[in-house]
Amino acid sequence: MPNTLKNWKGPMAVIGIDWGDSGKGRLVDDLSSTAQIVARYNGGSNTGHTVENNLGKFALHIMPSGIFNQWAICLVGRNVAVDLQSLTEEMSQLDKADVSYKKLVIDEQASLIMPWHRMRDGIREKLRVAKVGTTGKGIGPVFADRTERVGPLVKDLKSRDFVKKIEEEVKIQNKFYKLNLNPKSIVKEFGVYQKKVKTFIGKTIPILRQALKEKKNILFEGAQGYFLDIDAGTYPFVTSSNPGVVGITRSYDLHPSNLIEVIGITKAYTTRVGEGPMPTKIDGYISQRIIDVGKEVGTTTGRIRSPGWLDLVLIKEATEVNRLTALAITKLDVLSGISKLKLGISYKLNGKPQEYIGHDAELLSQVKPEYINLPGWTEDISNIRSFEKLPKNAKAYIRTIEKFTKVPVKFISVGPRRGQVIYV
Ligand code: GDP
Ligand code: IMO
Ligand code: MG
Repeated sequence: MPNTLKNWKGPMAVIGIDWGDSGKGRLVDDLSSTAQIVARYNGGSNTGHTVENNLGKFALHIMPSGIFNQWAICLVGRNVAVDLQSLTEEMSQLDKADVSYKKLVIDEQASLIMPWHRMRDGIREKLRVAKVGTTGKGIGPVFADRTERVGPLVKDLKSRDFVKKIEEEVKIQNKFYKLNLNPKSIVKEFGVYQKKVKTFIGKTIPILRQALKEKKNILFEGAQGYFLDIDAGTYPFVTSSNPGVVGITRSYDLHPSNLIEVIGITKAYTTRVGEGPMPTKIDGYISQRIIDVGKEVGTTTGRIRSPGWLDLVLIKEATEVNRLTALAITKLDVLSGISKLKLGISYKLNGKPQEYIGHDAELLSQVKPEYINLPGWTEDISNIRSFEKLPKNAKAYIRTIEKFTKVPVKFISVGPRRGQVIYV
């Protein structure tokens, strides 16, 4: 196991251990200067990974966040729902900044997000009594179709029958879901995408296996967060893929025991966007302050994210299930100036301690968290680059998280830009 993440080696994973938006994009960008492979393994265009570096500020949805390392091969795994509208826009964004993506490989077995998936997502959400608050990108429907074994794959873009396949599927979708899709316009739209992405389609698994054999530096980039997992999250307020270590196996046939380091990433507080319970939710002045200072607005949808105190009960669960070996704590700078901080350490229901909440949304919406209180700090910490130089109370805050989770914090970020970090 490497001592610090600065000189990391071997297969390593970055996994959100919250409800998403923990800063995975920035962490992957920070770590990828020594990566030889960066591999996205779950999610789709619901993902919004922000990277801010010397080349500009970027919002990535399908493109791996390691794309700014021109030497790294960037893989999009077979369990990523590939949204070509989004991907081609990202390509244009990168073209404008003169960033090459010639080392991108999109797995041919991945499912394509089609216009009908987005439409069905919207219709379902409108009809729901209890809204999920999806991103509207067609994520639920595309993974539902994949499970039903219908819908085009990335490799179909290379097939001579592509037009026929689309036309046939549009007929079925129109009939089944009472949609009014025009096959000709979809074929036209996808013809444009086809030209832009054809050369990037391939088999990612042999590339990954070869890299493993050669002991290359492989970085797996998770999307969302463990509590949005389709099974482990608070169903139905979840997404449709697996943000935890399981997701890596699903995309790349790689057993998690191959990972030398599994980094769980969370903000120094927590946020949730969309519906669903959040026991440690903060109200009032402190909530608004965190939204303002932390610019808590969704990268994909522009919605405000609700802040909460860091919930160590959930983090411990994510830590144990995914066998995390390191924690990355982002946005510590946002907490500067809040005089009293809280960390959620247990739950009670009707006065009784709750050991296992499971993944029960109803239960989670009823529990009352218990906190430990910690004093805050007032200093601006955004220019600090070593743990020792942090204010005493900031160090104590981090050490308390470590003590509770029994996992070392190896990365702290104190600002959104590349390099505004502390390797512990
Ligand atoms: P991701 O989905 O996990 O990649 O996270 P997002 O990019 O959706 O959201 C994280 C937001 O916080 C982005 O706007 C980042 O630029 C910003 N950010 C990341 N790390 C820091 C940090 O240490 N401090 C501050 N102030 N902002 C940060
Ligand atoms: P990144 O990778 C935060 C949330 C949505 C909604 C639920 C289901 O940027 O961390 P979906 O569109 O997936 O069917 O929506 O999941 N959600 C995210 N929240 N960050 C994300 O990704 C998210 N991806 C999905 O808000 O509550
Ligand atoms: Mg995000």
